[in-house]
Amino acid sequence: MTATTAGTGTAAGARSRGSATGQFYDELVTGLETARAALPAEEASFFNRPMSEPELIEWLCFQAYYEKRAAEFIGRWLADTPQDDAFTLLARQVRDEARHYQLLMRALDRRGVSSLDRWRPEPEWEEWIDGWYPSGADTLERVAAHNVTGEIGAANAMVAIRPRLPADVAAALDKILPDEQFHMRLGRTVLARHCTSDEDRARVRHRVQRTFELEQAGRAAYNRRMARLGLADLDADTPPLA
Ligand SMILES: [Fe+2]
Ligand SMILES: [Fe+2]
Repeated sequence: MTATTAGTGTAAGARSRGSATGQFYDELVTGLETARAALPAEEASFFNRPMSEPELIEWLCFQAYYEKRAAEFIGRWLADTPQDDAFTLLARQVRDEARHYQLLMRALDRRGVSSLDRWRPEPEWEEWIDGWYPSGADTLERVAAHNVTGEIGAANAMVAIRPRLPADVAAALDKILPDEQFHMRLGRTVLARHCTSDEDRARVRHRVQRTFELEQAGRAAYNRRMARLGLADLDADTPPLA
């Protein structure tokens, strides 16, 4: 499945084609969809092989780590978010991301994993999620990276993996995905209201482009990790990255 296909079910929910205020957002999202669609198959998705139970646990750990970090870094932004509308929307997002973390940890707990204490992220994930996302200088830069670029990538990945999941994890994603669509719309709203100058648009484009690059490096690291753990399906049409 390509990101373009997923985009019709996720990113499109945040878009309203033809709206003058959302034109810049639509241009950014269309650019991301085109770039994702042009990727080689092994870089286009985390999920280029059947998902075994051990890999499911690895993916749940990654996703729970991502959700927890999102709640943490968005929470830290709140004291430095002067726009009242963005403050209220981001505060709701903190609650959502914490709930997503809880849902995924419950899925892990059912599989005998009660914490992430012994799980270690790849260096590329730390650069992308622990370093880059929190690093935005202001609301526009933060939302451009996480809500415009990251949320679309994450939601597309969830849509892609869902058919390969057991029922309890698919049910958890069904609770998470509507929130992620809200987070995408949040990104669109903040850009439409507050990204008003050529200088702002240049900063936002840079954050979108760099996030996209870090996301690709993160996905390659995921495939490398699965190969290292012996969880890759070497008979798959597209072998994992080594
Ligand atoms: Fe989330
Ligand atoms: Fe989110």
